[in-house]
Amino acid sequence: MLHAVARPQSDAPTHCVAEQYADMYRRSIEDPDGFWLEQAQRLDWYRVPTRGGEWSWDPVDIKWFADGSLNLCHNAVDRHLEVRGDDTAIIFEPDDPSGDGRTLSYRELHREVVRMANALKAMGVAKGDRVTIYMPMIVEGVTAMLACARIGAVHSVVFGGFSPEALAGRIEDCESRFVVTADEGLRGSKRVPLKANVDAALAEPDHDTPIDGMLVIRHTGADIAMTEGRDHWFHEVASDADCPCEEMAAEDPLFILYTSGSTGKPKGVLHTTGGYGVWTATTFHYVFDYRPGEIYWCTADIGWVTGHSYIVYGPLMNGATSLVFEGVPNYPDHGRFWEVVDRHKVNILYTAPTAIRALMREGDDHVRQRDRSSLRLLGSVGEPINPEAWRWYFDVVGEGRAPIVDTWWQTETGGVMITTLPAAHDMKPGSAGLPFFGIEPQLVDNEGAVLEGEAEGNLCITASWPGQARTVYGDHERFVQTYFTAYKAKYFTGDGCKRDADGYYWITGRVDDVINVSGHRMGTAEVESALVLHPKVAEAAVVGYPHDIKGQGIYCYVTLNAGEEGSDELYAELRNWVRQEIGPIATPDHMQFTDGLPKTRSGKIMRRILRKVAENDYGALGDTSTLADPSLVDRLIDGRRNR
Ligand code: WT7
Repeated sequence: MLHAVARPQSDAPTHCVAEQYADMYRRSIEDPDGFWLEQAQRLDWYRVPTRGGEWSWDPVDIKWFADGSLNLCHNAVDRHLEVRGDDTAIIFEPDDPSGDGRTLSYRELHREVVRMANALKAMGVAKGDRVTIYMPMIVEGVTAMLACARIGAVHSVVFGGFSPEALAGRIEDCESRFVVTADEGLRGSKRVPLKANVDAALAEPDHDTPIDGMLVIRHTGADIAMTEGRDHWFHEVASDADCPCEEMAAEDPLFILYTSGSTGKPKGVLHTTGGYGVWTATTFHYVFDYRPGEIYWCTADIGWVTGHSYIVYGPLMNGATSLVFEGVPNYPDHGRFWEVVDRHKVNILYTAPTAIRALMREGDDHVRQRDRSSLRLLGSVGEPINPEAWRWYFDVVGEGRAPIVDTWWQTETGGVMITTLPAAHDMKPGSAGLPFFGIEPQLVDNEGAVLEGEAEGNLCITASWPGQARTVYGDHERFVQTYFTAYKAKYFTGDGCKRDADGYYWITGRVDDVINVSGHRMGTAEVESALVLHPKVAEAAVVGYPHDIKGQGIYCYVTLNAGEEGSDELYAELRNWVRQEIGPIATPDHMQFTDGLPKTRSGKIMRRILRKVAENDYGALGDTSTLADPSLVDRLIDGRRNR
């Protein structure tokens, strides 16, 4: 067992110390409604809620603050105008360090959001409409989200790294008739043809949702095709006309965000307004212990939930300064993060283990060349952080001065669920720590028996919290099946987890057919579906395996149609094929051509064996006697060795 690292002491004021945590946590569990109705007062409401949680997980029906009404754009922007209108809301740091950076005060952010909202309205967007946002990491990505919230439209942000095919599926699934995009995106000096990708998505043969309007932001100035009557330049339709915030019921939808599961297509996870707002505002306040005037930087993309909750809603509802970074950690060189920290005097840095590992590999010089004395707090999210990377983050990046919060949560949880609080708890490298207010984690074995004390099992949550997703858009049954059926009337996270003697939680990784590649969730079934679409592929099975930088890599077993031969060329072709079908984040790391997949006599693929072979762990293959063709295992191992 690793020893705990004492939280560094600091004289700065803090929102929660150890004794407060214990009291507040107890109250949050004993009187959740009282606790959360009180936390709800962080926000401005048109109608202040008097009702807390009204929920059931059997049948599944979840509501919080149901008699309240509010608007999250008002809370993130308008309400700050009087007190801190001239404070900085957003610092925009462009991909190219010599490019045009921008700083927006809350007043300037308000103007930009109103202009965006008016542009959306001019295209006909109305309350309840879904709007797909496919944007680079620029200010307009943030203002598009807030503009939707302002007028009551439901945003569905699709990560700009997804392919036209993946985008088309996400537009189709929520019947979105509006798209906001940019001419191009920039990432590490590479241009991403966003507008052309949207056009390609809409031209997909099976795409039948008509698009009523597309708003295009001029970013790089690239020459792009505009379809008359459908596509509009933002700068031509934007206006400063008055645009009040819509009054939204607490349970009105705020956004849909697609995330991968163990089976089928990505699910449109739906979050609503009041509960998500209270959850992200409260978690941001306590987890990052934010103090007025501090510069906060979350390096995620708005295409993921981390960007939603902790670049946009959480920080802005707290009146914070949120840094929006367009670029990547290794451009123009591996010192980019530290250069940004130094130049903008970043106080709180929130990033992912995969980035930390990649930068750690480049040595300490890049870090040490820059002044990091502004850093007060470090955060980690997306996957378990290995203790070696944790130590480097703590010792080298934070100079042993800045506590680390390792925040465990999911798209479905809306915000942080398990973490230490910076001034309240000692840290253990590799452990996310303790439950946030209102969260009761539970470990169960595969049969559902509850495990007490020090134990390892499947991580469940026993009671609803305000930030919980309410449904899968258009498919409530899938929501029920995915999260509430494995263990009756519990929310099952899909993660394996250990609890130690101090009650600290250690996430061990997914226990389903989901893999975590560079902190991004990837369904193995999605990669398999992409592979079998290729005319030469007969069957495919995809598993995760340990990868030094990415956490997990994508390992593909592929059987080819009769007469086809596995070759380096075909490997490259299939790799590229998957990139085209899903996006670069799904690029296979290894591909093994095989004459068969290990199946039981009833035809079920034995993934356990495929995982072990991919991990190079042949001693622990377990029982292979139920295989239809036991000799296949030796051929798989040979193929692995000869790769
Ligand atoms: C899955 C959720 C939460 C925003 C980013 C990912 C893994 C996330 C941690 C952490 C260990 C973590 C889990 C979880 N995960 N944070 N601090 N320690 N594992 O959101 O795409 O919804 O993925 O990411 O496996 O289930 P997501």
